[in-house]
Amino acid sequence: MRFKPLATLALVAASAAAAPPSIDALLARMTVEEKVGQLSLFAPVSTGTVGNPATRQPSAAEQRDDLRAGRITGFFNGQGVAIKREAQRIAVNESRLGIPLLFAADVIHGFRTVFPVPLAEAASWDPGLAERTARAAAVEATADGFRWTFAPMVDIARDARWGRGVEGSGEDVFLGRQFAAARVRGFQGTDLAHADTMLATAKHFAAYGAAEGGLDYNTVDLSERQLREVYLPPFQAALGAGGATVMTSFNDIAGVPSNANPWLLDTVLRGEWGFDGVVVSDYTADEELIAHGVAADARDAARLSFLAGTDISMQSGLYRDHLPALVASGEVPMARLDDAVRRVLRIKQRLGLFDAPMRGLDGADRTDWPEHRALAREAAQRSIVMLKNDGALLPLPKAGQRIALIGPFARGGDLLGPWTLFPGTRPPVTLEDGVRAALADPSRLTVVRGSNIDTPLRGGLSAAVAAARGADVVLLAVGEGEAMSGEARSRTDISLPAAQQALAEAVAATGKPVVVLLRNGRALALKGAVRDARALLVTWFLGSETGHAVADVLFGDTSPSGRLPVSFPREPGQVPYHYAHPPTGRPVPASQPDSFYKARYLDSPHEALYPFGHGLGYGDVHYDPPLLSHTRLPWDGTLRVTARVTNRGTRDTTEVVQLYVRDRVASVTRPVRELKGFRQVHLPPGASESITFTLTRHDLGFVGRDGQPTVEPGDFDVWTAPSASGGTVASFLLEPSTQHHVGQR
Ligand code: BGC
Repeated sequence: MRFKPLATLALVAASAAAAPPSIDALLARMTVEEKVGQLSLFAPVSTGTVGNPATRQPSAAEQRDDLRAGRITGFFNGQGVAIKREAQRIAVNESRLGIPLLFAADVIHGFRTVFPVPLAEAASWDPGLAERTARAAAVEATADGFRWTFAPMVDIARDARWGRGVEGSGEDVFLGRQFAAARVRGFQGTDLAHADTMLATAKHFAAYGAAEGGLDYNTVDLSERQLREVYLPPFQAALGAGGATVMTSFNDIAGVPSNANPWLLDTVLRGEWGFDGVVVSDYTADEELIAHGVAADARDAARLSFLAGTDISMQSGLYRDHLPALVASGEVPMARLDDAVRRVLRIKQRLGLFDAPMRGLDGADRTDWPEHRALAREAAQRSIVMLKNDGALLPLPKAGQRIALIGPFARGGDLLGPWTLFPGTRPPVTLEDGVRAALADPSRLTVVRGSNIDTPLRGGLSAAVAAARGADVVLLAVGEGEAMSGEARSRTDISLPAAQQALAEAVAATGKPVVVLLRNGRALALKGAVRDARALLVTWFLGSETGHAVADVLFGDTSPSGRLPVSFPREPGQVPYHYAHPPTGRPVPASQPDSFYKARYLDSPHEALYPFGHGLGYGDVHYDPPLLSHTRLPWDGTLRVTARVTNRGTRDTTEVVQLYVRDRVASVTRPVRELKGFRQVHLPPGASESITFTLTRHDLGFVGRDGQPTVEPGDFDVWTAPSASGGTVASFLLEPSTQHHVGQR
């Protein structure tokens, strides 16, 4: 544990002192019970604990009494404007101090209009797109009275078994940082006082995605270097973009659960980073300190959680029940309580709630937002990743072919993804609807289910085989159901369920060309007929416009432009797998992939089947070797790396040009490659473009042996590439500083 530097302490004190006087005046009038109320968030009893395990709930009358007594700071995930309006009316008009409530919700990938799941959207490699969908979601959610979203989830996820990878931006730190910041900007807009902005929440702090065995909620044990280099930077990016709140994570790190970790919440978050926003506990995570075995009872758990730096308790009621006594006994200093309450009142003030508590609560529920449909379609199109397209099977012609659409995802269901608590009333576009709408003659489409998601369907295989035989091309819609990824949805085996694999084998045996449309919330280990299909599209959970977006890509109205934000391993047993791993002492030589005593499995190559960053378009893009402005990068200088790319194909395409580096020799092992930049470029047939990236020493830093940020001079490799395993390499030398360099990052 490190001590907070004095300079930072002064900063924190100064920002607290700078709180508007009205907040201090209000604080001075509050009883301890009212103060604790500002730190207590609940699900409204009228709608219950949507999307979470049930807890002990008060009666509606008791909750109204709590509102009148100022014992509740706000509600989360409640449905309907009318319920919120009534609660706000009570809080503002009938409580002693009239402090407005704050309404929160898991607005994760859209609200009424459902956008692609965050992992899918990360596959667009366009943070600007994520900013736009977050903005649209905020517009819809604030019209329903919500001013706080529990998003973005910025957890790096490198173990595909973990179900919650679907909620984040994948395995890479650089990509994760861009998406974290973009989503915060989208939700929070330019000014939180505007009616259509919501507080963003960077969650789950921290290292939740590093759960051992990919098992949700499981223990985490990692070095401070990993924590600071991999898991914390997306949080810093989210807060750097103005993120106003942070949510704790359920896991422990090296024995200390986040809710009881003052080093994480106080020393790092508030001290080092100067964060002056609000920390909210994850759902009942304070109470879970008892099950973790670090708190003896609820009182102990409340004390630990609060003193670690968790401002708001979610749903457990532990603060409400125990903080007053803890303050009375002196175990929790009043000054600490005041600091936390001040932070909460300040975010309410920033939102303009004191001035206009009824804003967004005066209308009726609005369930459809047709003006956001085009964005949903664009986001869905751009999230699709084409892994393979042998013999240029795609795009398909819109006329002249008989098409069989086969699989458990051919018709409705399982389109939206795991965090869809508030879907609009207009049904999402299914694959069948989308393909039919695109065809010149819709009667040329046959649709057969063939199998359930994880059990065989009676007569399914024979119907599927008959449909395939009668078609010129098969679209095989297989993968995971919505209930197979998300919270508490870890899997030991990331393969396709056996029933669907059997369907794929039977269909492939007809010899008809197969296009796999993969439905998934994580990287999957593809096998047999699925892996070997002529064309493979990763279509995730794409939301409201799924069918149209998939058809747009299938029939070539748009070229696929998504790239994998997670590596697809060959075998389930390879996970956790990620591209930016340190080199071993026994790497497998490229010239002798079968050599023994090397870091390889006996039964499989160790590389990914499809690497991070991979994805094809309908062009044929050629990369020239990277061109460097210099071979030496001066300590205080810049180096330009230029990638010239040419579309030698006959169709328009969008390429995502990626920049990777490797530090060849350092005082600690450095990843075999690390993403340091990327750029999208549209290339008509025959067109060339030169993309230039600029590197400085700040792009080459890491956490040194002493735990401090450092940059070390020396040789670096650099690639401009279409994926984490493609491209050609060049190298440069980072020159030493003319003064001393250690810690000068
Ligand atoms: C999840 C959070 C979510 C919260 C409230 C928890 O179980 O971990 O991500 O925001 O519930 O629904």
